[in-house]
Amino acid sequence: MAKRVLVLNGPNLNMLGIREPEIYGAQTLGDIEKLCQSTGQTLGLKVDFRQSNHEGELVTWIQDARKTADAIVINPAAYSHTSVAIHDALKAAGLPVAEVHLSNIHQREAFRHHSYVSAVAYGVICGFGALGYSLALQALSEKLK
Ligand code: DQA
Repeated sequence: MAKRVLVLNGPNLNMLGIREPEIYGAQTLGDIEKLCQSTGQTLGLKVDFRQSNHEGELVTWIQDARKTADAIVINPAAYSHTSVAIHDALKAAGLPVAEVHLSNIHQREAFRHHSYVSAVAYGVICGFGALGYSLALQALSEKLK
């Protein structure tokens, strides 16, 4: 049976394409979803792609993932730098997690240098734009073999 990967996107990522394109690129979240679906198809993964501006909704989806997914890709966006709740939910889920950021967060403001998610992630990818999602799916596909 195909492995299932939940791809989660945090706040403001629905604004991609409009939002600071010099930092985040011209691709929309819809483009990134297409990339994830086609990468998933190539790798034989079932991809469930979602975005929310609400921390609690992301926490609920992560809790549900224990029953509905085999691994998680997450771009927690601004919640990376603030959310103990998302850290705790990911830890409790007990699934391999790939953390993705479009931009190189270490090259940016100091408040973006720390992520609460990194400590509970299998791996972290940042700075490669939308390609990072594809790389994350490849890494998780290997991990799930
Ligand atoms: C981001 C980086 C975060 O610092 C920021 O708050 C985002 C997007 C990225 O993909 O580069 O919203 O996660």
